[in-house]
Order: sequence, then C-alpha cells, then structure tokens
Amino acid sequence: MTLAYGNLIQPLQREHHLQDYQKAVESFNWQDVEQHFTWYKTGKVNMVYECLDRHVYEGYGDKLAIHYINGDIEEKYTFAQLKQKTDHVATVYKKYGIQKGDRVFIFLPKNPDCYIAILAAIKIGAIAGPLFEGFMEESIKDRMLDCGAKLLVTDHVLGKRVPKSTIPTLETVLIAGEPEQCEAGEISLYAELRNTVADANVIEWGTLDDGFIIHYTSGSTGKPKGVLHRQKAMIHQYLTGKWVCDVKEDDVYWCTSHPGWVTGSVYGLYAPWLNRATVVIHGGRFDADSWYSIIEKAGVTIWYSAPTAFRMLMAEGEQLHLNYDLSSLRHVLSVGEPLNPEAIRWAIEELNVRIHDTWWMTETGGHLIVNFPSQPIKPGSMGRAFPGITVAILDEDGQELPNGEIGQLCVKADYPGLMKEIWNNPEKFQSYFPYEGWYVSGDMAYKDDEGYIFFQGRNDDMINSAGESISPFEVESKLIEHPAVAEAGVIGKPDALRGEIVKAFIVLGPLYKPSSALLEEIRLFVRNHLSAHNAPREIEVLEQLPKTRISGKIMRRVLKAWELNLDPGDTSQLDGGVLARVAVVS
Ligand code: PRX
Repeated sequence: MTLAYGNLIQPLQREHHLQDYQKAVESFNWQDVEQHFTWYKTGKVNMVYECLDRHVYEGYGDKLAIHYINGDIEEKYTFAQLKQKTDHVATVYKKYGIQKGDRVFIFLPKNPDCYIAILAAIKIGAIAGPLFEGFMEESIKDRMLDCGAKLLVTDHVLGKRVPKSTIPTLETVLIAGEPEQCEAGEISLYAELRNTVADANVIEWGTLDDGFIIHYTSGSTGKPKGVLHRQKAMIHQYLTGKWVCDVKEDDVYWCTSHPGWVTGSVYGLYAPWLNRATVVIHGGRFDADSWYSIIEKAGVTIWYSAPTAFRMLMAEGEQLHLNYDLSSLRHVLSVGEPLNPEAIRWAIEELNVRIHDTWWMTETGGHLIVNFPSQPIKPGSMGRAFPGITVAILDEDGQELPNGEIGQLCVKADYPGLMKEIWNNPEKFQSYFPYEGWYVSGDMAYKDDEGYIFFQGRNDDMINSAGESISPFEVESKLIEHPAVAEAGVIGKPDALRGEIVKAFIVLGPLYKPSSALLEEIRLFVRNHLSAHNAPREIEVLEQLPKTRISGKIMRRVLKAWELNLDPGDTSQLDGGVLARVAVVS
C-alpha cells in the first residue's frame, strides 16, 4: 500500500477506469460518451431502458440488480425481475391515465417498492417526484401543489401525512400495500398488480431533452424550488458513475441516501445501474452496527455516503468495526458537506480505504468536482473538475480570479447533466446565470495551481446540516406561525458532528414567557410541519432581534456574529435600538 500522510494522500495501486486524469481532460469530448447508449443508434431515448431493460436484452437478466436489507428482512431482484416489475407498475399507472409529462409523486421509505415506483414512472415518460421519507405535511404539500401532481404512490403509514384533499390535481393514490391498508378513495397497488397483466412493451420513448425527474431544493428565500432534470443527464451520470465511483459490473454498490434527495436518485439508482452494478438498499435509519453489517452481509465494494455519517461512525470508537468483515470495500465516496481531513485519515487507518470527496448540487445533475480513485487527494479539497467540466472562481463582475483567491464557484453551463429548468419559475432559473454561459453555484471557493478546489462556505444564508440544505427563511416562516413566536431569525451554528445545526433566535409574543416546555413545543411545531432536519436544535429567546433600520429585515449576519463572538461587520444599517444580544430568561 502506498498511503502517505502530509499534504497528499496517494492512491492505492489498483486498476481504475480512469487512470490518467490529465490525458482524460485533454482528449475529452462528451460526444464520445454518447456512443455507449442504445439511443445513439436507435434514436429512441428512455433512462429506464438504459438502466434496466437493455441489460436484460443484452443477456444480463439474471444478474442481481437489488439487494435490499432491513434488519432481518432481505429481498433480491435480478435485472429481469426489475424490468418486469417496472413494466407492471407502469402498466397500472397507464390504466389510471398517466401520460408523458404527468407528474407522479412517490412517498415511500427506502425499499424496493420506492425504487420500482420511481423507475416505472420514468419508463412511461412521466416525471417522477420522489419525496424524502422524513417530510411532514407541509413539505409534501408545497411540492405536490407546485408540481401539479397527478398520481401518488405511498404506503399506509407515510400516506397519512399527505393532505390529499388539498391537492386539486391529484387524481389517484396508490398504496403500496393490500386493500385492507387503504383508506376511502385509495387503491391497493398490490391488488392492482394481481389483477392486471404487465405490458412488456409499456415503455414510452422520448428525446434527450425530455424531463424525467424533479427534485426540490431549498433556497435562501421563498419556498423550495423544483429542479427538473432531462434525459440527457444520463450521459453525465453514466460517465461519472464509471470514472468517479469507478463502478464495474461486478461491484456491489451502496449509496446511503434516500432517492428523494438527488444523491439517492443519481448515484443511488442511475449511475450504478447505467453501469450494470448490483445496488444495495438499506431500509431503516442510521445505526453504526447495522451499517457495518450491511457492508459485511452484502459484500459492499463501493460505498457512497456523507461526512456526518462518517463522523458518526468515528464517534463509535475504534473497536466496533473490528466486529465486522469489511474487506470487500474498495472505494468510498462522500458528498454534501465539507469532508474533514480527520475523516479521511480515520478511514485510511481503520478501514484501509481513502474517502473521496465529491462536489455537486441538486441543480447540477451530477458530479462536477471530484477526487478520482487513481489520483492523489489533498485533504481539505473537494478535488478537481471532472473532464469536460470547466470550473472557475469568478468575482462579482463575472471575471475570473487568480488561483488562491476566494470567489464564487462557477461552472460553464455546457455539459449534459445541468438542470433543464426550475419548475414554474423561469426567473429563478435565470438567476443562476448572471454571467453569460456560467452557472453560479452560490458556494465560495478557491482553486490552487494544480486545479484542486477548496470549499469556503456559501455566499447566502443557507444552512448545511448533516449534508442537507436548509433554508433559514423556511424555518423562520414556520416558526412565526406558532402563536407564541412574534419574530424569528435562524442561522447555522457550527457543530462538530453535523457540520452545522439549525439555531433559532426568537422573540415571544407579549403573553408568553420562555420555558423549556414552550421551546420544545415550538421545536416540535417545526418538526411536525416541515421535517426533523428543519427543526431547530437550539432556540434562544431574545428581547429583540437585530433588524435593518429601513426595511426591518432580520440581520442573520449579526445573529451569527453574536453566536460566534465575531465582529458583526458593517452595522450602519442596523436599527439603533438593537445593538446587543439580550436574552430573555424564564
Ligand atoms: O454548499 C454545497 C454543499 O451542498 C450544496 C448542494 O446541496 P444539495 O443541492 O442539497 O446537493 C447535495 C448533494 C449533491 C452545495 O452548494 N456541498 C455539496 N457537496 C459538498 C458541499 N460542500 C462541501 N463539500 C462538498 N463536497
């Protein structure tokens, strides 16, 4: 092994799909990648055909496509079985009137039904809208209303959280369960499958420009935005799966993210299946023992997760993993938040693998800045631009900054994975492209002389907690709906485990006094309406919040400075009445 410490961490000497980074950059052409796909010859495009059906037609029908593990429950599906199941569910969708372009929402836990329901929608040209299983009523409603959802697939547990009658476009609710689990107006998907014959030719062909999946992402202002991706993204997703995740067809591939998040769909379904690997699905929540046991039981070779998860495993100490045989692991990747060098060192020392950080966003459709298994890692850097991707650090005028200077992390908008549009919101879509031809990420970073990019934070107030992007605006809006809360300002507070936690500063209405019971009630109010990850982990009651003198806007920057004992910077706009943090005590 050639692992070195210090500035560079050298790769393990193995054969990887991409061996020579510089050469790949110099000779790269996206058109060359297109030849991999059947549509290159046939002109008929469908993501699910490339992920499943073609493998069956090419003789790999018996190969394992899904290995699902949830405690003692285990299920396995071959590519042939998945083709048949997605055909079958798609046949049911069609029976209920789903046509090309219709929005089919899927609200299911991480299990095979969830993956099949998503793929079945895409197979018939519908737009899949997968929802994270932790969402509560309002998060679900916001998304389904915005998108005009026509059909929902859920189960009898999660389905109770969906305010079906408030979504006027919703025509059909399929319950992944038996008839006795359905409420009035709901249809048992399992009974439908027994009573219909799968149409093996149910697939609908489309074009590379057709939308196929929508993921909502929070912004620093306003409601979540629907990021629509087009079929063309498969070019980018296939190649990053091959070069960055290094997927080979013998691999057993485990991405820990739910397909409601973009990582869970792009690198949980498409990238591994476009590369014909076996996908492991783990049902249930994080638990160090069961995570290690998944690797052992399934023989996971490639593992894609997030820094908070690695830190949680590190916190278990150095003994736990010794109870498991983790020798199958050969490649580990991370995304969503800064990967601290300690985590990389821990993985080398304890698991004998490097962790490869990757950077991308819901909007970007796939990896843009990455660490390749064949290349040295600079701990603290997110890696280098994927070949075919142009990354630059731009100043406020859109001019490129010299290496070493911090500026806006931007990407040339000329690659296949970039989002097609923001659903129903062309202005928001345009706002990502203030400089001709460049996508502006909202992240701040610098580049070194070798092209390695170092993340420096967001340039808006977005909070990143355990890899999930949280809008302070959304949390504040919810907080002030609670009768006791008169005003609210929300920030991300640095946290050793989660990167950041949500911290809320509130002013109570005149009739309320702070108490731990009241603060817990307020926290639960956010949790039960939005989701657990949006709920503030800390709430502090202040006499007044810092606001701008003219518009009365809450100055989160000042709250953050108070919290971190930093200089709040330019406070000339600050309302003179609120110059200090005065806590209200019970
Ligand atoms: O701030 C960056 C952070 O996550 C944001 C994108 O969040 P989301 O759209 O939810 O997608 C997450 C996974 C694709 C980015 O703007 N982020 C993502 N990857 C990294 C990161 N921050 C630091 N290091 C990363 N590797």
